[in-house]
Amino acid sequence: MSESVANNKSIPHESAHLHVTGDAAFADDISQLEGTLFIALFTSEKAHAKVISIDTSAVEASPGFISLLTTEDITGSNDCGPIIHDDPILADGVVSYIGQPIFAVIADSFLNARKAVKKAKVIYQQLDAVFDLNQADNNKSYVLPPMMLKKGDASGQLDAADCRLEGQFKVGGQEHFYLEGQIAYAVPKEDGCLHLWCSTQHPTEMQHLVAQACQLDANQVIVEMRRMGGGFGGKESQSAIFCCIASLAAKKLNRPVKCRLDRDDDMLITGKRHHFDYDYQAAFDNDGKIKSLQLKMLVGSGYSADLSGPVVTRALCHVDNAYTLDHVDLGAYCCKTNTQSNTAFRGFGGPQGAFATEYIIDNIARCIGLDALDVRKLNFYGKTENNITPYGQPVEDNVINELVAELEKSSEYRSRRKKIEAFNQSSPVIKKGLALTPVKFGISFNVVHFNQAGALVHIYTDGSVLVNHGGTEMGQGLNTKVAQVVAIELGINPKRVRATATDTSKVANTSATAASTGSDLNGKAAQDAARLIKNRLILFLAEKHAIDKGLISFANDKVHLGEKVIQFNELIQMAYEARVQLWSDGFYKTPGLHWDQEKLVGSPFYYYAYGASVSEVAIDTLTGEFKLLRADLLHDAGNSINPAIDLGQIEGGYIQGMGWLTTEELVWNDEGRLLTHAPSTYKIPAVSDCPAEFHVKLFKNQNVKDSIMRSKAVGEPPLLLGFSAFFAIRDAIASVAEYTIHPPLNAPATAEEILNAVDYCLNS
Ligand code: MTE
Ligand code: HPA
Ligand code: MOS
Repeated sequence: MSESVANNKSIPHESAHLHVTGDAAFADDISQLEGTLFIALFTSEKAHAKVISIDTSAVEASPGFISLLTTEDITGSNDCGPIIHDDPILADGVVSYIGQPIFAVIADSFLNARKAVKKAKVIYQQLDAVFDLNQADNNKSYVLPPMMLKKGDASGQLDAADCRLEGQFKVGGQEHFYLEGQIAYAVPKEDGCLHLWCSTQHPTEMQHLVAQACQLDANQVIVEMRRMGGGFGGKESQSAIFCCIASLAAKKLNRPVKCRLDRDDDMLITGKRHHFDYDYQAAFDNDGKIKSLQLKMLVGSGYSADLSGPVVTRALCHVDNAYTLDHVDLGAYCCKTNTQSNTAFRGFGGPQGAFATEYIIDNIARCIGLDALDVRKLNFYGKTENNITPYGQPVEDNVINELVAELEKSSEYRSRRKKIEAFNQSSPVIKKGLALTPVKFGISFNVVHFNQAGALVHIYTDGSVLVNHGGTEMGQGLNTKVAQVVAIELGINPKRVRATATDTSKVANTSATAASTGSDLNGKAAQDAARLIKNRLILFLAEKHAIDKGLISFANDKVHLGEKVIQFNELIQMAYEARVQLWSDGFYKTPGLHWDQEKLVGSPFYYYAYGASVSEVAIDTLTGEFKLLRADLLHDAGNSINPAIDLGQIEGGYIQGMGWLTTEELVWNDEGRLLTHAPSTYKIPAVSDCPAEFHVKLFKNQNVKDSIMRSKAVGEPPLLLGFSAFFAIRDAIASVAEYTIHPPLNAPATAEEILNAVDYCLNS
């Protein structure tokens, strides 16, 4: 007999068996309809230029050529920007970065489309291009007005404190490197309608942008999305351009059209994580207590705004990380450059904000000769006092003190610190380093109205259950968790519950699956739907058996009516025959949020997720190489719905964060061409980069807020656990000068960067 599942059950990912056999269907696996056509994009070869002429005669003579798609074919609006209308689908007269699509070639095969597009000749008149953030800042060239977050009297406190520090450092961007690239397949339907299969975190936005571009009503466009082979934020807004191009071509030719990018084009066209340049002044007391922080952040937005506004808002709201900062003066400037438009990436600016303070604390500790862990602990938020964030939200669920204490112990931080110091004394070339860094991450979209979700639950007469919700599956296990929630609510085995593809014709007006809120929002909506059906069933049974409703319960695929037990299946058949509605919608909106985007004050987050990590590295001071030797992660996923899935998110987040801050380097040449547009030149972590000793644990906790099953969102926060790998490298470098000099290490800490910092420390 099957058993129903309680909370905390590590059932396998609903698609695991399909992933491992290759049977999981991604957008490119959908059987193609007869007459399907294929797209190749012609992308700008200049960073900033007027397009003088386009010669496509050779393109049109190329084998398999069918048609072109140019700006003239865009009957609706030539725009696919998520917030501001500064993102053309196809460049109209002026190109703004190398890689920007100018027109599309449509042919009878991908190969023919690619061969044809290479034959186009475009003549440009070059305009001045800007790549440097300082240059953009000096010109006051921003994609959005600057944003300021101030609290207390930062400049006054600067003079009052015992010590002062100032400096500059940088953090690089990051390519999403989803395994499945961007793809959209548009199929014309009757009466001008369109059906679109695509890889996106935001089906509703795709629906709207396609409708606007094609001059259709939203009810004429259906977007369907079963799963992505990874999104990581790169498909929150930037799937739009490909959806729009495929749809416009399908409309123009009245034929099915597929737009699928190869890796190089994908990396050349799409935006990445925002890179940041920091300039700070900090003041602190002799014991390491931070008194004041002034920080200017130059943000690399690229050529358009995209999601820079909310990304930078989140960055500003994460500069505090886990620390009380009473006097701050933070400014963020979204610099406009002639490069890809940077976008959402796991953490959504949060990592870039928190990294700044971690870097500064690392310096403060070295100034006063303390272990950085002690300076961190001294500055942690309190539980009931010293718990107001710079944006005014009280931190009411703080567990960072006990979480870090537990990790400090389990990782044997102090004894390993001693061993490493002894090792470094006796090892002239190889040096080891250690760091413990904390994470506090705010959960909710920082645009209040996005915090809503809907779901549909159907119970069929055989007792099997189908759930559809507004979230999208990108590998993170959302469908598994939502199915578990429905199974728990109905007291049945989750094997009876199937989650379907996300579909804009089922649940409407969905938010992006982003901000780590997927299971919080959609789990609650699905629970609501399941509960409504259950309540109808209870009412039906109570009347039929003249029994008190309170005596009816659902568990283990059975329904208990006091002493009497019936099978869930039996009940469903009976209820159907009694004409009880066996399906329902469900809805959820996060309570208690408010946010003033002008003043940057309010309570934008429902709660916070916490974590900490310890990394130990060895560096080779002659080559600049490093090796991650051991990592210990302790992370707060609340009362986890599925610990196996959450542990996977925590490990993956840490490794992705470590990759961002160490080996993943984006390089553009002087003309603004991205040189690192393939795995041959862009180095993401491999299995061999995982630490040989890897301890990953969930922190025992319950969400103090009434979140779904009292769990906590876990998608993005663990990315910040990767910080400790960077600071362990910095610690190893500092050892070459007896920890007296601040290594001028920027992120990513590539071999070159490490070597330069070692040289600096040895020679100053
Ligand atoms: N995990 C996998 N395997 N693939 C992904 O693309 N995206 C991350 C995170 N974990 C991602 C992932 C990002 S950016 C977010 S916002 C969350 O998952 C979204 O999913 P959730 O809200 O359902 O946790
Ligand atoms: N994360 C992701 N996407 C968003 C957010 C956020 O915090 N706010 C608005 N869009
Ligand atoms: Mo995640 S960056 O919010 O898609």
